Formats: sequence, structure tokens, C-alpha cells
Amino acid sequence: MKIDALATPALVIDAGRLDFNIKEMARALPGDRLRPHVKAHKCTEIAKLQALAGHRGFTCATIRECEGMVAAGLGEDLLLANELVDARRLGALVANRARVTLAVDSLESIAAAASGGVHEVVIDVNVGLQRCGCDPGEAGRLADVARSRGLEVRGVMGYEGHVVGLEDASERARLCRESMELLLAAHAQVGGSLVSAGGTGTYDCNTWATEIQAGSYALMDVAYGRLGLPFRQALFVDAIVISSCSQWSVADAGLKAFGMDHGNPEAEGADVWFCSDEHVTFGPPRRVGDMLRLVPAHVDPTMAYHERVHLVSGDDVLETWPIDLRGW
Ligand SMILES: Cc1ncc(COP(=O)(O)O)c(C=O)c1O
Repeated sequence: MKIDALATPALVIDAGRLDFNIKEMARALPGDRLRPHVKAHKCTEIAKLQALAGHRGFTCATIRECEGMVAAGLGEDLLLANELVDARRLGALVANRARVTLAVDSLESIAAAASGGVHEVVIDVNVGLQRCGCDPGEAGRLADVARSRGLEVRGVMGYEGHVVGLEDASERARLCRESMELLLAAHAQVGGSLVSAGGTGTYDCNTWATEIQAGSYALMDVAYGRLGLPFRQALFVDAIVISSCSQWSVADAGLKAFGMDHGNPEAEGADVWFCSDEHVTFGPPRRVGDMLRLVPAHVDPTMAYHERVHLVSGDDVLETWPIDLRGW
């Protein structure tokens, strides 16, 4: 099948660039040094390629992602890097011999892990993102409580999400160090072998974490493209020009086809003016029927909007993969 036979908007991955990104990351962070985050792609076919590259453990953001990974035979060592108040669905996976470790940051989330049938946890520490995570000074006490409830505490996690997207590399490294000092102080109180942190923007400067939770590196987006990382843009949305005038054109991919929280998508040789529900307006004008290849500004929500993604090489469609970890 050729690319021009795809119904638009079509989510496509450049096969060569995906392969490059996975190999480049596996070279920098081999094996268990990387715990790839599946939230970025939500696709078990991509997770299988990451496993083939040597990474045995994965990071998940939702219960559904854990369930889908186990169903795909990738449940050897999953970390749900998120808090739950009802862990029974995870407990069911554990009862079926998957290994799932859950992040906890409160007495309530510890109770949910214990009563839901999860046996292993990490203490989630707030290292500055102001999302989930306990105060670093609270981590040791929570670990004691978790152990008293019979849970195995594998260590700590602390995601420096306020740092990973900073364009200034030295500022990124400086703030990453500050965050990791907090995490290591918490780890000293908690114990355990895991210090899990990091993302695509800090994969190389975060030398303190025992494992890095990067996900976006496999596909990349406009926002991460500005950081000068070695990873190549592999994800695109192909659209067709459906209307044109002397000053602009309109193609058939709008904000329902892109995660827009990091801004407009971009396209080579085109200036994207704005997106509406089903349209992108751009200049200079092109002919009706021409293809426009757009780069999403934010990979994670873009993947979650689409049911399938096409693996392409040049004009050829090699495979079509379901984005099977969508939903909750
Ligand atoms: C807990 C957690 N870890 C790691 C990441 C890293 O992802 P990325 O590679 O996209 O920076 C994220 C992304 O939001 C996250 O939520």
C-alpha cells in the first residue's frame, strides 16, 4: 500500500527514524538503565521494539496501560508511576503473575495498594513538579508505614517534569541536579534499589537516578525538537489540502488530530496560522489535493487521539498498528 491511499488525517511513523531513536537511546541507557514510559506512544508494537532493544521494565501512567502491556506479554516489571485510591485492577494483574509496582505518596494510597493486592511499591517524592509525590522529608515515614502493611518498598521515584522541557541545557542540568538532591535525600531514608526519575529532556544529564523513565524520545515532537537532542522526528500527521485561496490553504487535520497544549503543529515550508476542529489553516497556499505533512507539538496526547498509526518508509506503508493502550 502507498501512503497516498491512507485516509486523512493519517498518523504516520517513519520506520527508519523510530529505529534510530530506539537504538540511540539503548546505546546511551542500555537495559535496565531505561524504563521506557509507554504513555508517550500507547502502542504495544512500539513497546515490543523497546523490549527487543533490551529494556525489560516499563513505566505506565494508567491502569489500562498496565493491563494492555500484560496482555501483550510485556508484564515482566511494570511501574505504575501514578497514585491510585483503588488498586484492585492492578492486584488482579499481580494475582495473574505480572509484576506491577505502584507509586504511593500518602497513607491512603498505601492502604489502597495493600488492600488491592499490590505487593510492591515505590515512594513517590515531589521533586518540584508540584504534581504527585510526598514531601521529601515524609518519604521515610511512609516507607515504614508501607512495610508495616506488608508491602515491599523497592525505592523511590521523583519525576522532574518541570525541568525536562527547558530549552537551556545548562539550566536543565542545574535544576535536574537540585531535584535529584531532594530525591536522593528521600532515598537515604527509604532504602531499596530503585531511584526512578527522568524523561527525554534529562536522559543524559540525570546521572543520579538508577533508571530513567523517558518516553517521548521514540517519536519526538516540536517541543522536544527544540532541545537539540540526538533523537529524530519520527511522528507525523499527514493531511490533504481541501481548500485554497490566493493567500492561504486549508488541510484536513485540526485540533482533534493533535495534542495542542504545547502549541500548533509545524510543517516544513509552511507557516501554520491556526487549527480549528477539523482544519489547519496555513500559508503560503498550495494546490487542492496536495499532501501536507505536519509535526505534532506534543506527542503523548496526539497518540491518544488516534486509533491507529501507520509505519511508513518513503511512500510505502509497511504496517498499521493499533494504539491499543488508549483509555483508562
Ligand atoms: C512520571 C513520568 N515519568 C517520566 C515522564 C517522561 O516522559 P518524556 O520522555 O516524555 O519526557 C513523564 C512524562 O510526562 C512522566 O509523567
